[in-house]
Amino acid sequence: MTPVSRHPPSRRIGIIGLGMHVPPKVLTNSDLEKIVDTNDEWIQSRTGIRERRVVEPGTTTSDIACLAAHDALKAAQLDPRDLDLLIVATATPDMLFPSTSCLVQHRLGASAAVCFDLSAACSGSVFAMVTAQQYLLTGRYRNALIIGAEVLSSFIDWTDRSTCVLFGDGAGACVMAPVKRGGILATDMGSDGSAASLLYMPGGGSKHPPSHRSVDQRMHFLRMNGGEVFKVAVRRMADSAKRVVKQATLKPEHVECFIPHQANIRIIEAVAKRAALPLEKVYMNLQRYGNTSAASNLIALYEAVQEGVVTRGDHVVMVAFGAGLTWGSLLLQW
Ligand code: UT7
Repeated sequence: MTPVSRHPPSRRIGIIGLGMHVPPKVLTNSDLEKIVDTNDEWIQSRTGIRERRVVEPGTTTSDIACLAAHDALKAAQLDPRDLDLLIVATATPDMLFPSTSCLVQHRLGASAAVCFDLSAACSGSVFAMVTAQQYLLTGRYRNALIIGAEVLSSFIDWTDRSTCVLFGDGAGACVMAPVKRGGILATDMGSDGSAASLLYMPGGGSKHPPSHRSVDQRMHFLRMNGGEVFKVAVRRMADSAKRVVKQATLKPEHVECFIPHQANIRIIEAVAKRAALPLEKVYMNLQRYGNTSAASNLIALYEAVQEGVVTRGDHVVMVAFGAGLTWGSLLLQW
């Protein structure tokens, strides 16, 4: 049974500032038609994606992470020097080490913050938020900056039509701290390493260090069994979302907004159905950004708040799924 936590109102952790950044360069489905054997009709009908953003060559994950972080710190009215904890969730770090969070810390001037990266692929921002919540609940840390940031365009095989149409670059950020009202009411996380081969990048680590062979065999690009990932994603996300709603002693009809990982409109529709969450309460922006992995949930939450879809007092369920496999959700009151 996956552990689920609930917290009394006296010690609730919430979001006090949000930020996001997507690179300005738009790559449409028609642009992709010129690169691989695909078409707009296939991509839209199978995924819901119309376009995605990609960085210019040379732009790194830490670059876009910093831009999202600036917004979130400003919204939280927090001086970077007062930041206690900084977690970057990413599957596409600038380098294997040092952590991207250390690079971001230096550029933000957050010299007092403890920094580490969190590797949970597309579940990264939800995992990082739950992790930060645990640190903040102890009282040892006063605040935390969570960033989900990805430059997936550097790890995508642009000759593989089954994956290159799905992903995009972007960053989302939030500042978390104890709150007097609202905040996180329930959380849920899970992992299943037995299915690691469904979505992975074989090259570049200790198993297949960079070599002529690893490059020739295109090992430094993402590989995925899309059909299998699809099936597991639906089951895991729906069950996780149901668990947090139950643990918060709420019913699906009490949830005002559902913010799923923005991977595929068909996955999201199936999750909503299985979790008994009406589609009109499900926020989607994947049509504009594609799957931005660890950035996805935070970018979606940012836009849902900006658009007034999420307003004060609303119950929001964020749910994610990714390589690992990993999945997680949290229910928060805005
Ligand atoms: O964060 C989690 C990350 N992973 C995901 O979100 C992926 C989850 N999986 C999916 O979203 C879906 O499985 C896909 C969108 C990847 C694929 O959709 P599908 O409905 O499962 O299609 P399929 O893989 O069964 O492929 C159907 C056909 C195949 O042709 P044949 O063998 O039937 O002739 C593919 O070769 O579609 C073909 N195809 C394409 N055609 C045009 C695959 N990719 C493309 C493409 N354009 N880009």
